[in-house]
Amino acid sequence: MQDRAVKEGFQPLKKASTMPTSPRAPPEPPSVDALRIGDLADLRAQDLSKLYTFAEDREEIYISRLREAVAIKGVSAWVENRPKIVEMLEWAKAWAERLGAAEARFVENPKKGEDATLPPLLLITFAAETNLPHDKVRTVCAYGHLDVQPAKKDDGWETDPFTLTEVDGRLVGRGASDDKGPALSWLWVVEAHRKLNMKLPVRLKLLYEGMEEFGSEGLPEFVAKEAVPPQPRFNDVKREITLDFKNAGWLSDVDHFVISDNQWLAKKTPCLTYGLRGVAYFEVIVSGPAQDLHSGVYGGSVHEPLNDLIHLLATLRHPPAHGGMHHERIRVPGLLDDVPPVTDEERAKYATLDFDVEQYNREDVTGAQLENATNEKTLMARWRFPTLSIHGIEGAFSDPGAKTVLPRRVSGKFSIRQVPNMTSSRTEALVTSYLESQWAALGSKYALEVKMVHGGPAWVSRTDHPNYVAASRAVTKVFGKAPDLTREGGSIPVANWLADATGMNVLLLPTSASNDGAHAQNEKWDKTNVTNAVKTRCLSTFDLASMVSRRDATLPTPSPRHARIAQVKVLGTYLHEISKLVGPRPALCKCAPPTAEDLAKPGFFAFAKGFRCKCEL
Ligand code: BES
Ligand code: MN
Ligand code: MN
Repeated sequence: MQDRAVKEGFQPLKKASTMPTSPRAPPEPPSVDALRIGDLADLRAQDLSKLYTFAEDREEIYISRLREAVAIKGVSAWVENRPKIVEMLEWAKAWAERLGAAEARFVENPKKGEDATLPPLLLITFAAETNLPHDKVRTVCAYGHLDVQPAKKDDGWETDPFTLTEVDGRLVGRGASDDKGPALSWLWVVEAHRKLNMKLPVRLKLLYEGMEEFGSEGLPEFVAKEAVPPQPRFNDVKREITLDFKNAGWLSDVDHFVISDNQWLAKKTPCLTYGLRGVAYFEVIVSGPAQDLHSGVYGGSVHEPLNDLIHLLATLRHPPAHGGMHHERIRVPGLLDDVPPVTDEERAKYATLDFDVEQYNREDVTGAQLENATNEKTLMARWRFPTLSIHGIEGAFSDPGAKTVLPRRVSGKFSIRQVPNMTSSRTEALVTSYLESQWAALGSKYALEVKMVHGGPAWVSRTDHPNYVAASRAVTKVFGKAPDLTREGGSIPVANWLADATGMNVLLLPTSASNDGAHAQNEKWDKTNVTNAVKTRCLSTFDLASMVSRRDATLPTPSPRHARIAQVKVLGTYLHEISKLVGPRPALCKCAPPTAEDLAKPGFFAFAKGFRCKCEL
């Protein structure tokens, strides 16, 4: 097996104990755990201080560009604003062109035939500038979304949501953190390389969409189409298998995916995120009279759709007095059947993370009553148990004042965050049959319609994949502290679509504070990118070596000049760390996909292209 791999030009990864002593043997990438205990020897060798100083000096420029982007009101939920999303994408495309992208083009949204308002997808490629042959230069694809959640000053914003405003070191504005700030930073990383005459160490593809906050319409179809792999062909002359990229998709040469669209767990410790919950979103519609009715004139003579709907929604969960954790109060029978049991190994992980439930209550969910008093239960409730949350009722009176109305048609909206092993189809079936039986029991005279608007599964990645190792090294280098490995309760469906369609690893690389307030009033991105709390600065290689030997080392108070622009530094450093990985390019792996037989083998979970390929096992 190994012979074949070598013949095909692969350098199989080897276990440390069996590594030959030859100086030319590629070193095995260090594991994240190895980094945690402070093995920083090779980080010292790389000097990106030019890049860091440059980024620091451009802080005000980056902020003013973010201000321009925030001012473009590309709210995907406001259908009349869809042209603004296109304007936002055009803004990014123009930047890519200015920065000498090899490719910057729009692709029509695959669902445009069904909905003419859907914005296109934006595809950008920056060529690698190394002298290495094609099969040695890795392709990194960063995904980001340039649409935003709705926001109105009246919702309780202190400042105009579409005017980026600096308030005590916070850059307040819709999309500042979710996701314009992080997503656009990739462009500034390229710009820094251009201005400094530094070589881009990898091929960088950027995939920007403009419908994420509305359910990423058309994106799964795009991903499926563009993931079509190159066809392996047997070359009779060379007597080896080569890959034919002629009909291969845009995503097919990507070795590593990265998404910067979530937050750290706390404010002092950087994180890499390896898990997400999926979301199954439901709408329950009760249709009544032909039009709204006066509640005084007609009230009492007719059944009321809103009253019946509220009774129905109330059957979804037990009240707090019932006791138990949130998930234990979900009343849909069978919904918890597939939730994985908690293991001791998992339990041990919670204790190691920088998280304090009291601080969380004070700073992140200020004013909220907590469900659970302990760190462990709070994290479990956010990451590994499902939730069922009611969001609103369309058609119900919700304006200021005291309108006396009987709404004619109301629709309740709720969602279930799904954890590993739960499937949307099973969730849909269980919820629908439960609600229909409850509706019958309530004796409403009106018709009920239950719809699952969209459904996506949870996502979990391995953290010992080289993609994570590279990111861990980058974060450690910039922050002087190894990242915590975290999961998230939120959902980024594209993480699954990319991983499933291409077989490549997806990394979530958050670089912002836990209290950024995505989707809420006064969403912000910290100007210092949480520096005051992180107490870090751009460390010289000397500092790095001396300070990071202990993970919890107390770092010096930041000097403002050095402390900022962590985003550009982390993303830039990550690209350099990726370029230093050894071993075959995952996208060029010629292994056949695993068969049902392979998958049944114990330990085969390890299969993931470019990590432990079949050809390496
Ligand atoms: N950036 C968020 C997702 C997120 C935020 C994940 C924080 C983890 C932590 C994304 O823009 C988002 O809002 N996703 C939606 C998904 C939905 C529209 C399918 C969500 O989680 O509600
Ligand atoms: Mn987002
Ligand atoms: Mn969002």
